[in-house]
Amino acid sequence: MTPIKLGPYVLPSNVILAPMAGVTDRPFRRLCRRFGAGLAASEMITANVQLWDTPKSRRRMDHSGEPSPRVVQIAGFDPEMMADAARRNVDAGAQIIDINMGCPAKKVCNRLAGSALMQDEELVGRILDSVVRAVSAPVMLKTRTGWDRDHKNGIRIAAIAEDCGVQALSIHGRTREDMYRGTAEHDTVAGIKAKVKIPVFANGDIDTPQRAREILTSTGCDGVMIGRAAQGRPWIFDEVNFFLRSGELRRELPLENVRDIMRAHLEDLYALYGDDTGVRVARKHLSWYLRQHPGHEVLRNRLVTLQTPHEQLSTLLEHFDLG
Ligand SMILES: Cc1cc2nc3c(=O)[nH]c(=O)nc-3n(C[C@H](O)[C@H](O)[C@H](O)COP(=O)(O)O)c2cc1C
Repeated sequence: MTPIKLGPYVLPSNVILAPMAGVTDRPFRRLCRRFGAGLAASEMITANVQLWDTPKSRRRMDHSGEPSPRVVQIAGFDPEMMADAARRNVDAGAQIIDINMGCPAKKVCNRLAGSALMQDEELVGRILDSVVRAVSAPVMLKTRTGWDRDHKNGIRIAAIAEDCGVQALSIHGRTREDMYRGTAEHDTVAGIKAKVKIPVFANGDIDTPQRAREILTSTGCDGVMIGRAAQGRPWIFDEVNFFLRSGELRRELPLENVRDIMRAHLEDLYALYGDDTGVRVARKHLSWYLRQHPGHEVLRNRLVTLQTPHEQLSTLLEHFDLG
């Protein structure tokens, strides 16, 4: 695969992590990058800077220790606010700006942001133009195949983006109306790839190395973006990279490696969020890690009841004391 170049950055891999609010915090991004994700965008940040003075927003804008290039995703509906948000994030350490026009979440869509923006192509053009002009950092766009199945205008949106100077696209193979239902269809993604010259990442239901290769072949896309399949399996990036390079599947990761990954991940979460929130955030990651290992249901149920980092970590390590 030809390495993808975005501005001055050559991506270490064309397999990248999808932005997921509530999941792709700094510890998870670092973990995925360590396992070979070519990029790992931050959780979405609203373009309304008046909402930034909260611990949550401050945490989302903290990139310490994150490998380059650091991508921040912004969401909003007003071109000037989006430009301002992009500028401020670049000043705070973002090296690539990703614009969210892919998220169907109500909170975002009530304000005609996220994928709801696809209904107003003229506004899409003004937002993209305004953000691209505001920053020297490369700008990416994350979007869907269309507004609904009768309005699959993803191809027109992609062309608008390219004209505005957006440097890469990630396309989730569903419409806004589909939410997460059904399976992603990548024919429209292939149509978008055929229309533009900028790199395109195919996204949606890519959950194995074989599926990644199938989608790359069938769409002609330059890369793939993986979301849910990385939950509890951040090493999927290594598995996919290895398969794309060699055509071979990696052996399943030994349990002691999984235990060490979980331990380091938990420690990172406690350090970022503090004890109470850290324990709560850790529960969902633990649950994702353990769902792949049948036989650990008792542990899984117990871990979600524990209240302190010490209890959580020591219970986990005792259980996995592999001698
Ligand atoms: C919990 C969760 C949060 C998400 N948050 C965002 C977000 O903030 N911004 C965004 O562009 N997409 C968001 N998405 C969509 C994903 O980036 C991705 O497009 C979608 O999950 C399909 O990819 P997958 O099948 O590999 O998971 C989110 C998805 C999930 C499951």
